[in-house]
Amino acid sequence: MRYALIIAGGSGTRLWPMSTKELPKQLIPFVGSDEQGQGGRSLLQIAMERLEGLLPAEQIYVCAGESTKQVMLDKLPGLTEDRFISEPMGRDTLNAVGLGCSVLKHKDPDATVAIFTADHIIEPVEDLLKIVDQGFQLAEASDKTLVTFGIAPTHAATGYGYLQLGDAIDGGGFVVDQFKEKPAADIADGYFAAGPEKYLWNSGMFVWQASAVMGCIEKYAPENFAKLDDLGKNWDTPERDAKLAEVYPTLEKVSVDYAVMEPASADESMTVAAVPMPLSWLDVGSWPSFADTLEKDGDGNASSGGRTVHVESNNVLAATSDPRHLITTLGCEDLIVIHTPESTLVCHKDHAEKIKQLHGLVGEQI
Ligand code: GDD
Ligand code: MG
Repeated sequence: MRYALIIAGGSGTRLWPMSTKELPKQLIPFVGSDEQGQGGRSLLQIAMERLEGLLPAEQIYVCAGESTKQVMLDKLPGLTEDRFISEPMGRDTLNAVGLGCSVLKHKDPDATVAIFTADHIIEPVEDLLKIVDQGFQLAEASDKTLVTFGIAPTHAATGYGYLQLGDAIDGGGFVVDQFKEKPAADIADGYFAAGPEKYLWNSGMFVWQASAVMGCIEKYAPENFAKLDDLGKNWDTPERDAKLAEVYPTLEKVSVDYAVMEPASADESMTVAAVPMPLSWLDVGSWPSFADTLEKDGDGNASSGGRTVHVESNNVLAATSDPRHLITTLGCEDLIVIHTPESTLVCHKDHAEKIKQLHGLVGEQI
């Protein structure tokens, strides 16, 4: 049977101070809010809603931290406790994907699972669902195929994975000759210059048979496999919580991109396939990418929540979580100003990727 697994952990520190441990970025209702900051939807809500046309709710699972479980169940009417796969703490995406696929494989040995992230805005949704269906068909046809979805790069990003395209596959898509996660800047420059016929970004979404990806984890990360397989086997037993508490913290922390996709693309017994996704795709991981989701005034200023007045200012992002709050800027350029009742961030746009560095300086608040 077909399933979807949304991986929705991680704390989103680059979107501090709105994103916090208690309310991580995927739960902040900031997308499409009105001028008072009301009526917005969270990235996770959007991720769930876009799957409505793909699968019945009973086949859609979410894997995220135990600490966010209650708020996720409260905010997502389509999600029930039995489809929430909770981690005691984040151990990166190999383990989130591995735990989810292990649980599904033990429930249904014929499970084919589409992995979705909770930090993207992808449109139009109807086209996305057609492309995902194509991915399901490729994955269902072979337990030696791992399917990725490729985005045409718009710049030489170093924060994404790259898919080097090889031969075309019957039924659509391409063989990925090499999967390269987060390349150094000079390598990314070369990939970007080669053009989208040769290199696509990895969208972070995948489709595979649960048994196929677990087979890869067994081969490339055997210690993680033994623990994840045991957790999946015991998921519906009274042992579950004790095993999670004992085993999960000991899992090596690594992403599925490094631990599975890179070695699988170099493994002759496996095929990594790429289905191109020529859609509007936005990774909402930092304040500049959040600004891209907003309408800008004639001077490039973007605002969200509360009231804002920009005078002789350019390319400023001002956002507040308090609808009564007023932010004013005068003579400012390329600034990010984010206000919450607890904290205020003022940051030059060029430093937006470094907000994580504030961690440790401001303690538990970030
Ligand atoms: N449950 C759980 N547990 N989810 C997690 C964890 C974890 O420990 N860590 C991250 N996630 C979730 C995030 O919420 C997000 O939805 C998704 O996994 C991807 O994690 P990121 O940390 O945002 O990965 P990335 O952006 O650096 O890289 C990935 O996505 C890029 C596209 O945006 C890779 O797949 C890249 O190859 C890809 O280009
Ligand atoms: Mg991301």
